[in-house]
Amino acid sequence: MSVKPDIRRVLRRNVILLLSAMLLLAGCGQDMHDHPDLVTGEQLFNYHCASCHKPGGQGNFLKGVPANKGTDLSIFQIAHKVQSGAGENSAMPVFAGMSYDEARKIAAYVQRL
Ligand code: HEC
Repeated sequence: MSVKPDIRRVLRRNVILLLSAMLLLAGCGQDMHDHPDLVTGEQLFNYHCASCHKPGGQGNFLKGVPANKGTDLSIFQIAHKVQSGAGENSAMPVFAGMSYDEARKIAAYVQRL
């Protein structure tokens, strides 16, 4: 009776577990949706968007990030862009894990900027 194949199988299973864990962690990134203390559109915007678009939504010209202030987009269009993206080669991340309610709150805030 040989023990080796069993060890190999156990090792392989651990590698798969480790890879799954890494994928799960990588999946979070921009999309961390565990922030029960953030309630208003402004708080949510500052948390999710201001790193690129700046706290007042003025954008970052040097990094190619357009201003949100004075956007022509409707609340629906902004929420849709945030949740689903605008196209293949956009430099803006897609917040696929964000609820429509949250995206709509942020969009309403963006329109008031
Ligand atoms: C990693 C940087 C980054 C983050 C984070 C980010 N954006 Fe963007 N955003 C961009 C870039 C780059 C563009 C320009 C390319 C494009 O339109 O896809 C853009 C474009 C936009 C536009 C279109 C501007 C217009 O008026 O046409 C809106 C609206 C917008 N972002 C809103 C948001 C909101 C709301 C959030 C937060 C939920 C957010 N962005 C988070 C980088 C970012």
